[in-house]
Amino acid sequence: MCGIVGYIGKKEAWPILIKGLERLEYRGYDSAGIALLDKGNFSVYKKKGKVAELSKFIKDKNSNELSGGVGIAHTRWATHGIPSDQNSHPHLSNRGDIVIVHNGIIENYLSIKKVLINKGYKFKSDTDTEVLANLIEDIKKHEKVSIDEAVRLALTEVVGAYAILVLSKDEPETMIIAKMGSPVVIGIGKGKSKSEFFVASDATPIIEHTNKVVYLEDGEIAIINKKNKKLTLKIKSIKNNAIKNPYIHTLKTKIEELEKGGFPHFMLKEIFDQPESLRNTMRGRIVFNKGSIKFGGLEKFEKEIKNLKRLTVTGMGTARFTGLIGEYAFEELSNIPTKVEYGSEFTYRNIADTLNTGLIAISQSGETADTLNAIKKAKKEKMLTLGVVNVIGSSIAREVDAGIYNHVGPETAVASTKASTSQVLLLVMLAIYFGRMRGLSKIKGQEILKEIEKLPVLVEKILKNAKLIEKLAKKYKKYNNFFILGRKYNAGTAMEGSLKMKECSYIHAEGCNSAELKHGPISLIDKNFPSIVIVPMDSMYEKMKSSIQEIKARGGLVIALTTESNKELKNIVDDVIYIPKTLEILIPILAFIPMQLLAYYISVERGNDVDKPRNLAKSVTVE
Ligand code: F6R
Repeated sequence: MCGIVGYIGKKEAWPILIKGLERLEYRGYDSAGIALLDKGNFSVYKKKGKVAELSKFIKDKNSNELSGGVGIAHTRWATHGIPSDQNSHPHLSNRGDIVIVHNGIIENYLSIKKVLINKGYKFKSDTDTEVLANLIEDIKKHEKVSIDEAVRLALTEVVGAYAILVLSKDEPETMIIAKMGSPVVIGIGKGKSKSEFFVASDATPIIEHTNKVVYLEDGEIAIINKKNKKLTLKIKSIKNNAIKNPYIHTLKTKIEELEKGGFPHFMLKEIFDQPESLRNTMRGRIVFNKGSIKFGGLEKFEKEIKNLKRLTVTGMGTARFTGLIGEYAFEELSNIPTKVEYGSEFTYRNIADTLNTGLIAISQSGETADTLNAIKKAKKEKMLTLGVVNVIGSSIAREVDAGIYNHVGPETAVASTKASTSQVLLLVMLAIYFGRMRGLSKIKGQEILKEIEKLPVLVEKILKNAKLIEKLAKKYKKYNNFFILGRKYNAGTAMEGSLKMKECSYIHAEGCNSAELKHGPISLIDKNFPSIVIVPMDSMYEKMKSSIQEIKARGGLVIALTTESNKELKNIVDDVIYIPKTLEILIPILAFIPMQLLAYYISVERGNDVDKPRNLAKSVTVE
């Protein structure tokens, strides 16, 4: 999983490529590299570490070394081979005639490598990508074909996932792009600079240059080259060379949405975006007089949705945890038996009976391979597949039969915040939508909708108290272990809270159903093992209070997260975080926010790289 960027046109390519890599760094930041093609010569620069390292390195070069209106670049999240300069992309072929960047995994690279080694090819890196570069070179040499045909033929031999950009010295005004499984978007220059193209793993590096884009589909190869002094784009099928007609999308994302908006980190900005992002998630969808929801994207499948007898909810990480909250909502409001599965497990196990079963796939990025594979499997099983996705036009959004978008705008920090609260909200709204087809009363629907509409204001109220959580972060930053405990809807909240602590603060936090505590985990409790207990005044309140007593009796510290009207807990626990009152089913949306803030502030206190925690990537496009 990596980010790729390409530029071909009249401008100097390198500043466009570096900026593009910065925007794609959420996809991986183990190493970065750039290849420029000028007057038939390649200049390739690569560096282990973040894009800033590469940027510093190439800014020291003189302008001759950096000239070129054609270039490709890459930011890496290591899969084959350790993060190192050597394993960084772009990769040159043996003769140095072909250069390539790649996002994905070539599964049969070892067998191809063996054949190439027998032919005398030498390899400098451990990557699957260098194998592909040499396979293309070998085919080009022996078949005496153009670079696009050589790439196409090479791709008919590989098994796996890829989005690749390829340049050849022999055809210096040509760029080849191909896709199978990993995303790639082509931006078409506008106005005077129509004769230029921008390519990237997603639209964020492109949007400041043009809003006209083409999403390449799986199995397609695109050729950008010069015809009559003008660059043109042609798309063909990798399998049989058939010409495809590109569909040009007009993007609506604004560039300001991509910036930090005055906050020190994207994560904090995105936490504070939540009143607005929740408004955007519900905008135009609440039909109050019917006590129901309108989802334009689902209308075509209303008949199939009415026939659904069971649901499987799938996703990974945060998306699966929000799914756990959705499970309770579907069983409570929609009366549909529901279970939650890791996308990775659903793909590889036997599914007993799929008749009238729907799959709901949750994904912020819309690119998570484990989730995407689960959808493909569900489609084979003839299940109706529905998506809850944030990134418009992403692979998952295009793969599902029908879907709904979060509409929260780009989420840049690696740790999910505004997408996660929007996911919970959409799942509750979906539960109402399904429920109204299955006997949920209009009055009950209206009662929940009324509370949903209040959420943005309640979130604003929580955010006003962010300073109090910052203070708590200073107090608790020294602990290396935490329990985060909840029940029912907030069992999922506890899991999500613990993931935030792990990934941002590098604290071992265990999300646990508090009833389970006494069955074993409680033996961990001592004065150095604090617990955050999610104890709102809901149907589980008394049970949760017992868990607090059990912890206190064993000398454990407790931070209670409770409803603002609750006065009794402050005398029992060590610290209290208050959230406003809302319906039980909506509490996770509010309870997520103090968890996000606590993880954020502890991460800052500990000097971590908040927006790009170690070992992670925003979009996990490998299995
Ligand atoms: C955690 C986080 C990850 C993602 C997971 C799935 O903060 O962001 O756990 O939730 O990798 O990603 P998406 O939602 O893009 O499918």
